[in-house]
Amino acid sequence: MPEPAIEARGLIKRFGDNTAVDGVDLSIPRGGIYGVLGPNGAGKTTAIRMLATLLRPDGGQATVLGHDVFAEPKAIREKIALTGQFASLDEDLTGIENLVLLGRLLGYSSRAARARGMDLLEAFSLTDAANRQVKKYSGGMRRRLDIAGSLIVTPELMFLDEPTTGIDPRSRNQVWDIIRTLVAGGTTILLTTQYLEEADQLAGRIAVIDHGKVIAEGTPGQLKAQVGSGALKVRVADAGRREEAAEILARTIGAEVVRESDAAALSTRLDENARAAVALNALEEAGVELETFALGQPSLDEVFLALTGKPAEPDADPQHDETPAGGPAESVDPVDPAGAAPGTGANRK
Ligand SMILES: Nc1ncnc2c1ncn2[C@@H]1O[C@H](COP(=O)(O)OP(=O)(O)O)[C@@H](O)[C@H]1O
Ligand SMILES: [Mg+2]
Repeated sequence: MPEPAIEARGLIKRFGDNTAVDGVDLSIPRGGIYGVLGPNGAGKTTAIRMLATLLRPDGGQATVLGHDVFAEPKAIREKIALTGQFASLDEDLTGIENLVLLGRLLGYSSRAARARGMDLLEAFSLTDAANRQVKKYSGGMRRRLDIAGSLIVTPELMFLDEPTTGIDPRSRNQVWDIIRTLVAGGTTILLTTQYLEEADQLAGRIAVIDHGKVIAEGTPGQLKAQVGSGALKVRVADAGRREEAAEILARTIGAEVVRESDAAALSTRLDENARAAVALNALEEAGVELETFALGQPSLDEVFLALTGKPAEPDADPQHDETPAGGPAESVDPVDPAGAAPGTGANRK
């Protein structure tokens, strides 16, 4: 068997009384995208910071690209890139100045750093913004510049910590394209996300984590299959009657009913298609008119609900990534000064 990109056993990290990562096992193959999915505070950032050797585990063991995180952190840092959930670019510098600075830190001559920087800006559709200060960039542009910065040297393994949290859908699609391009170039990616759809779209395998523990692992299809054979989705004609419809579905199908963000939509697990007919009859008898009705595979939202007993994180507000809400998670790690600048990738030689 080829050596995996990451092999972790029983990883533990405590912050005072709070066990942020509580015995995590991960086995991540080389190549492709591995998704770590979980709500805010689940322990995603803490887990990847341990694997990126920015934070020392309190227990367990891990090898990254064949190197032990305790014994050979330097060898690991030389081979990886880490893009932080909270971009750490110099706001007062322009896009190109940020990349040149990083390139110089990584040992490029200024001419070579500039050439590499311009190539990356072009690849990330930021050429027009090259000479603009980063503080004037949108959230999506920042995120792209941050990823560009971590690619000055092509890494074997890249950690992308919530690369699309709080950015608009168009930028999200651009970041997805970038991620797919990186994978096509041979880089292994460990992606954390709160977005089920993102994990579903990108990741070949997913670990779902909650309260510091891996609660499920597998391909998106396997995770979906775990919760049952299918799903029933309905949209009521009058959103005002959704609650009534939800009660009827719960009663006739006997599974938990998910209120989707669309105010007229409901979905539920369906292990037996015949139950759908019973539900439909009951809705009709009650005079609840349906606009659409569909049988399908369960969504990852339903998987999450089934696994954790609570709905997945609702979409954060668009400023989420720029507010200090994530304060504790990003506080400077005393173990290693590089922890203060997870986005720079400056820990590589
Ligand atoms: N540097 C830190 N100091 C104290 N507590 C922290 C620190 N980093 C994270 N935590 C706590 O650990 C838990 C997991 O956080 P985190 O790994 O950031 O989760 P996620 O990235 O999944 O949102 C949270 O309860 C968080 O408050
Ligand atoms: Mg995080």
